[in-house]
Amino acid sequence: MIKAIRGTRDLLPPDTALWNFVEAAVRDVFRAYNFHEIRTPIFEETQLFARGVGEDTDIVSKEMYTWEDRSRAESEKGQSLTLRPENTAGVVRAYIEHNLQARGLNKLYYIGPQFRRERPQKGRYRQFYQIGAEVIGPPTSGSESPARDAEVLELLATLLDRLGIENWNLQLNSVGCPNDRVAYNEALRKALEPVAPKMCADCQRRAVTNPLRVFDCKVPEDQPIIEKLPRISQFLDEPCRKHFEEVQAILKSVGVEFQINDRLVRGLDYYTRTAFEFTHGALGAQNAILGGGRYDGLSESLGGPNAPGIGFAIGEDRLVLALNQNAEAVQKKPDVYIAPLGDGMNREAARLARELRRHDLVVELGDETFRLKKSFELATKAGARYILIVGENEVKADTFALKNLAAGEQVTVPRAELAGKIRS
Ligand code: HAM
Repeated sequence: MIKAIRGTRDLLPPDTALWNFVEAAVRDVFRAYNFHEIRTPIFEETQLFARGVGEDTDIVSKEMYTWEDRSRAESEKGQSLTLRPENTAGVVRAYIEHNLQARGLNKLYYIGPQFRRERPQKGRYRQFYQIGAEVIGPPTSGSESPARDAEVLELLATLLDRLGIENWNLQLNSVGCPNDRVAYNEALRKALEPVAPKMCADCQRRAVTNPLRVFDCKVPEDQPIIEKLPRISQFLDEPCRKHFEEVQAILKSVGVEFQINDRLVRGLDYYTRTAFEFTHGALGAQNAILGGGRYDGLSESLGGPNAPGIGFAIGEDRLVLALNQNAEAVQKKPDVYIAPLGDGMNREAARLARELRRHDLVVELGDETFRLKKSFELATKAGARYILIVGENEVKADTFALKNLAAGEQVTVPRAELAGKIRS
């Protein structure tokens, strides 16, 4: 038997109702903040992620699904392609390609699958879904302002509250700008030099190539060493410090709680200044429900204009796991089950179903070969509110027996009044 690939999964009803509930609520919130949807391809040139996310990150160095796309014609060149492991690089690529810079501040959101070759476990998949947003524009559009950071964080708090997700925790840090990074990397290299030989092979490499990535290490034996390394907070220059202070001041003013965590550096290379994660207790080991931050130099590193930006991505799989909602409860049930009774009644039932659905009613249609008892059982199982009997006599009189399944009461209703009666 052919099965779904390890780390991928099928989303089935009634769970898909939860996913749709989440996505509908999310779209409502984005609308209130004047964000608009963007859709980018699920595969891109490998170079985009290597340059955007960073060669030394776990994502790029270990987790990407990459293949050589052979050309079909002699004249075309084959190229290295990658299933997107995240969507920020793709959005910024599109921003540059379509000159969205000319539109001023862009507030974009996306919902879609991402792919990473990680070890699958609860809350961690190889195909997972992100709900993300990016605020990006020329500096004159206010894209660099701490007001953007605070607005994005306040949006997230609102979104989680709206979905009824409680006990989330916002971890906040500033990872500084390239200025600070030079001094910080220098200090990290110095501090790592004597201890790196005792660390894992990855860390030994990172200590030389990209010392910040040492913080991504999950090896337990390395943690006491990492704990003692200098923190980025000691290296922020004056503009970065001011920016971070203002983000915090606005958050306090709007009443969004947060915790400063100066070990939070995030696993992607593009971050500058504000970096954050929201964690949630119910998620166990994979407790990061979302992450994001500012990426002021990303556009330029991809050959684009100076376009500061900030964004986030929510792990939708994890969001649904954290939801306190029952899938059955959010799944829409049929308003009415139509039970055709006897030969030739499928045609009549089909006409009625068409009429009622035009009135936006949810209609489940039975079959003329079913006995009445079976129709009642199926209607009850489907959770329909009403059952509508369509037999020869009913069709002749153009009035139908309509029974409320929960209340048990049955009425006879003329065709023209059916929709109104079912809706009431
Ligand atoms: P990220 O932290 O790599 O950031 O991913 C964001 C979220 O996606 C994580 O917090 C987690 O909830 C979810 N996630 C990541 N990997 C998996 C997985 N294997 N299975 C299930 N869920 C997963 C980014 O992707 C950045 N692009 C976010 C961003 C947008 N930064 C600025 N703009």
